[in-house]
Amino acid sequence: MNETSLSSEDYALLRAALKAMEKAYVLWGFRVGAAVLAENNQIYGGCNIESRISGLGVCAERCAIDHAVLHGNRRILKVALVIEDDNVLNAMPCGACRQYIYDFSDGKALILTAKAKNREIIQESIKVMHISELLPSPFSSKK
Ligand code: THU
Repeated sequence: MNETSLSSEDYALLRAALKAMEKAYVLWGFRVGAAVLAENNQIYGGCNIESRISGLGVCAERCAIDHAVLHGNRRILKVALVIEDDNVLNAMPCGACRQYIYDFSDGKALILTAKAKNREIIQESIKVMHISELLPSPFSSKK
């Protein structure tokens, strides 16, 4: 799948991730924004929140999923992830977030990633993938 097949809902999710990135609490890393589309069709944003103890912080994706769960949604359908264009790293969920996305989507989430510049999503940077591609061997009792 490529960006030409994105729906208006997908763009709304990417924009919500971009907006959430503004709230990132960064001490040693970089800003990350995420947004999840829950089964109730609502979007919940999240940002990375760092600690001086690196392992205590939380990634943007898990913050967004926690936000959805707090509002009573334990099933997510899609996840968007945005980082700044000047970052040398790819916008890609880390291993821990892949498991979390798997857990809260029953292994079915679509993942959209993008870079942003001047508070805009860079269209050409958008990538769409499925959680099963990113986590082919999840920790799961179902398979
Ligand atoms: N980070 C995320 O928010 N999501 C990921 O999937 C990868 C990493 C955050 C954690 C940390 O605050 C910063 O990016 C640098 O690693």
